[in-house]
Amino acid sequence: MIDLETSKLTPVDVLRARARQGVENGAVTEGYDANREEIIKLLNSSLATELVCVLRYKRHYFMASGLKASIAADEFLEHAKQEGEHADKLAERIVQLGGEPEFNPDLLSKNSHAQYVAGNSLKEMVYEDLVAERIAVDSYREIIQYIGDKDPTTRRIFEDILAQEEEHADDMADIYGSL
Ligand SMILES: [Fe+2]
Ligand SMILES: [Fe+2]
Repeated sequence: MIDLETSKLTPVDVLRARARQGVENGAVTEGYDANREEIIKLLNSSLATELVCVLRYKRHYFMASGLKASIAADEFLEHAKQEGEHADKLAERIVQLGGEPEFNPDLLSKNSHAQYVAGNSLKEMVYEDLVAERIAVDSYREIIQYIGDKDPTTRRIFEDILAQEEEHADDMADIYGSL
């Protein structure tokens, strides 16, 4: 027989009593193990990264359309859309944890891990996007390791985003190799 070690789980009566305390904290319960301030800070710097990436990809999309580089332009537009979805997921999680998502444009490039580089030629644009994706991949991987088992929901959000950033990096590397 498999020992499920259920003795480590909190007894139901304690769970029920705890849930009634601090109901104003919504999804954040007493069993929340992570350092909430720290997690919100990481979510906000990641939100800044995503918003900077939206802006950079948008610029590249419109510039590449002018260069009649349609394959790259399609990818830029798709990535811009997906980075926007990542930003929304992060902002939503910040609010669930009782924080405030930072959308102040003056702070975005300072808080972002990835940079906003305008890029002139198509090759420069793709290169900068590839670099930005690689920065995102590394920073999200580290954040996931930092969170560990302390906040599974936030970790899953980062894991889903990380998987897509790896695809983005791969897309940009393919285009870069073809230029
Ligand atoms: Fe993203
Ligand atoms: Fe990305």
